[in-house]
Amino acid sequence: MWRPVVVGRFLTGWGRPWLASSKQSAELMGRSFLPLLFYIVLCGSGDLLAEAELIREPYVQLTTRSSGVVTWRTNEPITPVLRYGVAPDNLTQSVATGQIVTRVSPELKGWPGVPRLGQTTPEGVYQYEVTISGLEVDSKYYYGVFDGDRLLAGGTDTYFLRTQPGAEPGRPLRFWVVGDTGDGGMIQRNGYAAMKEYVVESGRPLDAFVHLGDMAYDDGMDTMFQANFFDVYGGLICNTVTWPTMGNHEGHTSDGVLGIGPYYDAFVLPENGEAGGVPSGSEAYYSFDFGPIHFVCLNSHDEARGEANRMATWLREDLARNDAEWLIAFWHHPPYSKGSHHSDIEDQLVEMREVMMPILEEHGVDVVLAGHSHIYERSMLMNRAYATPTDSSGVILDDGDGNAEGDGAYVKSAHKHPHGGTLAVVSGHGHGSDFSFGLSPVHRVSLKEGGSVIMDLEGDTLKFTMLNDEGIVRDEFQLIKRGVVEPRIPLNDPWSPFGPAIVASQHTGGKVEAHLVAQPNVEDAIVHYTLDGSVPTMASPIYEGPIDIGAPTIIRAISVWRGGKRRSPISSRVLEPAAPGPLRYARIPLLHEEDDAIESGLGITDLHSPVVGITSPETSWFGLRFRDAGVPRGATILSSFVLMRPALLGMDPAEWTVYGDLSAAGQPFTEDLGGLSSRPRTTSGALWNVSAWMGIGFQLTSPDLSEVVEEVVGQPDWVPDSAIGLLVSGVGERSASSFDGAAAGAPEFWVFYDERDALTVASDARLNAFVRITTEGERRLFASLEILNSAAARGFAYTIEGSPSMAPGSWQALNGSFAGPLPGARPGFSHLVFEMSQMDGSAFGEKYFLRVVVARQ
Ligand SMILES: [Fe+2]
Repeated sequence: MWRPVVVGRFLTGWGRPWLASSKQSAELMGRSFLPLLFYIVLCGSGDLLAEAELIREPYVQLTTRSSGVVTWRTNEPITPVLRYGVAPDNLTQSVATGQIVTRVSPELKGWPGVPRLGQTTPEGVYQYEVTISGLEVDSKYYYGVFDGDRLLAGGTDTYFLRTQPGAEPGRPLRFWVVGDTGDGGMIQRNGYAAMKEYVVESGRPLDAFVHLGDMAYDDGMDTMFQANFFDVYGGLICNTVTWPTMGNHEGHTSDGVLGIGPYYDAFVLPENGEAGGVPSGSEAYYSFDFGPIHFVCLNSHDEARGEANRMATWLREDLARNDAEWLIAFWHHPPYSKGSHHSDIEDQLVEMREVMMPILEEHGVDVVLAGHSHIYERSMLMNRAYATPTDSSGVILDDGDGNAEGDGAYVKSAHKHPHGGTLAVVSGHGHGSDFSFGLSPVHRVSLKEGGSVIMDLEGDTLKFTMLNDEGIVRDEFQLIKRGVVEPRIPLNDPWSPFGPAIVASQHTGGKVEAHLVAQPNVEDAIVHYTLDGSVPTMASPIYEGPIDIGAPTIIRAISVWRGGKRRSPISSRVLEPAAPGPLRYARIPLLHEEDDAIESGLGITDLHSPVVGITSPETSWFGLRFRDAGVPRGATILSSFVLMRPALLGMDPAEWTVYGDLSAAGQPFTEDLGGLSSRPRTTSGALWNVSAWMGIGFQLTSPDLSEVVEEVVGQPDWVPDSAIGLLVSGVGERSASSFDGAAAGAPEFWVFYDERDALTVASDARLNAFVRITTEGERRLFASLEILNSAAARGFAYTIEGSPSMAPGSWQALNGSFAGPLPGARPGFSHLVFEMSQMDGSAFGEKYFLRVVVARQ
């Protein structure tokens, strides 16, 4: 009698020593085949063993045109047999024990030479992997899995595998595409149920399940795979092949470079070109043919992504040899996304775009699919969109909605052609959608809701359907590859997912003006708007100038261009008049594309960069210009700052200096050589030690610019409606949104001022006094002083004097020891508290007078 003795422990924790376990040994030995004799010895006294049960139902993977793999797990060793045939009740053929790969839990003793499952596998697991070969192309085979003669599962019409169809266009093919499903929650399950219902109602079953990674939250452990993938999708994968890619959550316990861990235990993937394509030598990235489609799966998580690294090298070789009608690539980290992940700022996403997209497009890729970002997003037909940050100018070939019912399907020439146009789809909404950074300019649709994507190939048309977790179709588009389509020139006024920018300017007295800026900012674009909350149409009023906001107002607007053929999404914003207050101020958005500029060290000035700031090591200056400041000449500036919105992360130390533009009345920026650096500028400059930009999308405030702005508005030829220009130089890369990049996110300028000259303002410092009695009964006198903290104020000295009588000559200076600032000071002022004591040390009388004397230093 033999019984397994359990001596190992199920390892938990964050170290990774367990990774160097099962699969590695499997690879060293090749997939090991158990000698049949071993089983005879092992199971000879089976009556003493508990009857084995399935703990992972059989599932289908790695189907080719002539083979397929079925895998299952039991809780006790069995004599594994797989029977198959063309009818469920007639399984005439079999794959016998000796042809079956067995792998067991790491702690099991008495299995010499048998490959082990990873260290996160629970104790007492026996996994069986069967390759059925010699099958007919595009044919259905029913199967059953047995322990000797005892049926464990199968033998019904739900257990089957289907071999891949041939390369010639033939019957329609249907794929289910989704990522980031892995929490086992309601949205995942509802999305799955919605897909099944859609499939039943439309009368066409799935041919394959393409999983875009993150299938086993949170850490990709074996138990998480069981609970969140196998237990949920068991009814699907027992007859539908899964083609997965590894997500970062799987990467917590699996290693793509070594090919070990629970992900690699769960899946058998074609590293040797078994299903078509060039052998990759890795299960983490591979290719396969499916009918007329060549699929490429990449490892965006932990494989080196450089051009000269092995994945890119293999990809070029694989694509060079590929001649399939369609080319679809998928991986986890999206090259274009602004969902829960941002493809302009995260390394994996940036590198997949900058390095892999050029290789794929060189070989005529049609579609790229990714997950990771918990959202549904899909692009227009584009080419060469490799830049960071992603920009739509010069890369969009067709900016329509791609829907036959709308602008018409996207079209490409038949067969494989480089740079014919790519569609990028993010389907990372498998367990819901939680956050969005905004909209990517290359996307046509972005939907923050749970769901999945169904991809149908029908003849020469590839159809995409986004089905949300309630079963509602939320987006449909198609790509047709037919005949010869003339190469297209990228559009210079492509559709953009942004509606008109609605920005507010504010001036003293609570006056708010709304400015509507068409996007894209092209010659024939016009903006229609409503102020009553109704949907704007082409019959709504046309925007012609700033709108005064005298009461809370809902502004809704659309841009229309290309003779009405293109319409933007609706923008809406609620604006309220500001409460009038004693302070004078101006809040001025940057409203014109030529009002932000960057200049390189060689003096080349660019007025149309999608980002502004010290945006590269070559950038030495940037300029911002704010029109109609409305600040009178000679005003005292109480406080002033500029708000910028980071477009990219920036970590390098950065130190800038902000100067004011002294050209007559803030002349427009030009693209002349030295367009910024050669302009006359203020002698004062505000030092800006720029913090690390660790996030994007929100506004960051500059240091106080009062001194600089005071010098600008103090010029003899300054008139109130001049533009205030800021000229910034320095080192340290930071890229903020520019008007050209996203008008609604462009910089904004604030200034608080007082029309009086500085001495008058300073003399009006408010003095208050109060007495506090200590517990010892001692009376102590405090003075609180509200003083200007503007640049001008720094030129004054404040002395507090006291007198018992107010008689001339009775005033004496008091020792005021600074007791700290008070919270809640007005903008532009500091509220300071001093504790007073007499010079001669005597006590203050019952009645005592205080005054503040202001003098220029
Ligand atoms: Fe992810």
